[in-house]
Amino acid sequence: MSGARSHSHLVGGAARPAVLVTGGAGFIGSHTCKALSRAGYLPVTYDDLSNGIAAAVRWGPLEIGDIRDEARLYSVMTTYRPEAVLHFAGLIEAGTSVREPLDYYDVNVCGSQTLLRCMRRSGIDRIVFSSTAAVYGEPEIVPIPETHPRRPINPYGRSKNMVEDILADAAAAYGLRYCALRYFNAAGADPDGELRENHDPETHLIPLAIQAALGLRDELVIFGTDYDTPDGTCIRDYVHVSDLAEGHVLAVRRLLDGGGNLTANLGIGRGFSVRQVSKSVEAVIGKPMRVREASRRSGDPARLIASASLVKKELKWNPQHCRLIDQVRHAACSISSRTARRNRHVLSVEVGD
Ligand SMILES: NC(=O)c1ccc[n+]([C@@H]2O[C@H](COP(=O)([O-])OP(=O)(O)OC[C@H]3O[C@@H](n4cnc5c(N)ncnc54)[C@H](O)[C@@H]3O)[C@@H](O)[C@H]2O)c1
Repeated sequence: MSGARSHSHLVGGAARPAVLVTGGAGFIGSHTCKALSRAGYLPVTYDDLSNGIAAAVRWGPLEIGDIRDEARLYSVMTTYRPEAVLHFAGLIEAGTSVREPLDYYDVNVCGSQTLLRCMRRSGIDRIVFSSTAAVYGEPEIVPIPETHPRRPINPYGRSKNMVEDILADAAAAYGLRYCALRYFNAAGADPDGELRENHDPETHLIPLAIQAALGLRDELVIFGTDYDTPDGTCIRDYVHVSDLAEGHVLAVRRLLDGGGNLTANLGIGRGFSVRQVSKSVEAVIGKPMRVREASRRSGDPARLIASASLVKKELKWNPQHCRLIDQVRHAACSISSRTARRNRHVLSVEVGD
């Protein structure tokens, strides 16, 4: 592969190298577009808007298309000639993947293959890939190092695991260079209030707890209170989405500066329990929520915490929003302001300190 055909675009009088962001209308992709723009790049979003919103694409052009549409992707690549690709687009719910595995393999695996084939045809040889802690499956060691065996337990995790293998094979065969970043739990929202999490249906704990505290859903269901953890509930490593976004800017820079391939966890290296999250949400919203305790879900390990030393060493990643209360506050501000715009009756809800 060769990146010789890339070029810069004039934006507001300044030359900016383009980067293609698949899934740039989604939660993590849109925050990353903002960070890329601040860092001097022109983020070109490619998204089919199946789970993203056009209004979140504010720092560069939006090209609507499916990741499996080779002709459309190729035409976008030849139009903008990006220096690198950041590949967020995909289906994201582990539970749904068990019921609809073929959809997950089609979009996540075949879509990634189509993207890589187009990159090869277009002479683009650098990619940052959204992988996941789900590639590890049930952890044997916590914090989980990158060398931990990869034994995903659902089609979602397996689809991401397959793409990691495809990237390694393409690197060996064609000289592709890549960073595969295994995210733990993305949380929070843009501290400036310009972006938010917008998943429908929502499956992530922090927004679900905020919705319960705001009275936008009846209750928060806690699955499993008998785990071997201090309060009996599951512990997860929450990473602020703006810190995730900065990690991607560092990964792109590494590849553009000639750095080698990297597969690294993107997590903070510490965790919070479900009860700690619900208590933080109640403190931020200033209201108690109704909680229902239910039995464990299959495939939910007691603890998922990243070993974060590799990403800090290799990318000099320095997360800024590690406090759970800040992550909850940023998420709550974005959810309550959106709701206030939709429903005048919740305008009175204050998001306290
Ligand atoms: N949110 C997390 O905690 C988390 C954790 C680990 C990994 N990830 C990975 O990070 C990436 C982004 O996650 P997110 O939370 O921002 O999800 P998201 O659903 O908000 O963003 C994904 C985007 O991809 C787009 N998309 C889906 N199918 C597409 C297709 N066929 N063609 C083109 N675009 C398509 C959607 O419209 C959406 O805008 C995903 O690949 C996900 O697997 C997320």
